[in-house]
Amino acid sequence: MISLDEFLGKVRRETDAALDLIIPQSDAEPRRLHEAMRWSVFAGGKRLRPAILFAAGMTFGASESELASTAAAIEMVHTYSLIHDDLPAMDDDDLRRGKAACHKQFGEATAILAGDCLQTLAFKAISADESLASDTRLRLISLLADAAGTPAGMVSGQQLDLDAEGKTLSIEDIETIHRQKTGALISAAAVSGAIIGGASDTELASIKQFAEKLGLLFQVTDDILDVTEETATLGKTAGKDAADEKATYPSHYGIERAKDLSRILRDDASSALSGIGKDTTTLSLLADLIGARTA
Ligand code: IPE
Ligand code: IPE
Ligand code: MG
Ligand code: MG
Ligand code: MG
Repeated sequence: MISLDEFLGKVRRETDAALDLIIPQSDAEPRRLHEAMRWSVFAGGKRLRPAILFAAGMTFGASESELASTAAAIEMVHTYSLIHDDLPAMDDDDLRRGKAACHKQFGEATAILAGDCLQTLAFKAISADESLASDTRLRLISLLADAAGTPAGMVSGQQLDLDAEGKTLSIEDIETIHRQKTGALISAAAVSGAIIGGASDTELASIKQFAEKLGLLFQVTDDILDVTEETATLGKTAGKDAADEKATYPSHYGIERAKDLSRILRDDASSALSGIGKDTTTLSLLADLIGARTA
């Protein structure tokens, strides 16, 4: 049994190697586009979605080589969502992953195109992965399209998030935003790994339940850190949610109650794992990490 740190290191190496093969090199034309894509993808994200995908996949016996392209695909959709999230028309953030946001470095037009292109490459990467059977690729593509898009995916959640600025929402409506803008991709990561590993429908249902709690935990933690941490630690602008009057757990409940609720979400995620008759230690450790992270 390897340690969590060793596991995370392996995930990063496998995912980054796949990303490096999939994304054109910076000296390939149009250079500006490829430089921008690489700027954001290799800026040092935590690679948590690939880690969730690998942990779920390995729980059901998938090999690393079967998981790498799909992990890279989900990381590309995630990075595209961050590039667009930072645009002046959206959250208007200058800093991402400790570096200038893509549009600050390359201009808005190139940042929009870099995001667009990361998304198309994600679907291409899964469709071209010869280590997976064709029907598996089709399932993964369909799952990722739902998670990235609408009516209950990342883009629809981003629309709800923007519409909610300056408004007082019910906790149910805040959770709907979180489930869509953040939870959907996290859930797709877990379910994709389990599909590649050949999990049964019952096992997939338990993994999905786990991932839905994990996704909510992830965004609640992100919103807590936006209040409690410094910009230098986060690698993105702290205090941004209050400045934009975003609908968050801390704005709804206050910071202490939000922290209590995040601990409950962590426990709920754990309970969902207990229904799976496999060794779920790594998934459980990842849930701890996501609840306890400081950046
Ligand atoms: C940030 O995600 C955006 C949210 C969905 C809250 P991460 O915290 O996973 O960002 P990186 O990938 O490590 O930069
Ligand atoms: C972003 O949520 C969710 C995405 C789909 C990118 P946030 O707007 O809270 O993410 P950060 O704080 O900018 O990373
Ligand atoms: Mg946002
Ligand atoms: Mg943002
Ligand atoms: Mg945030």
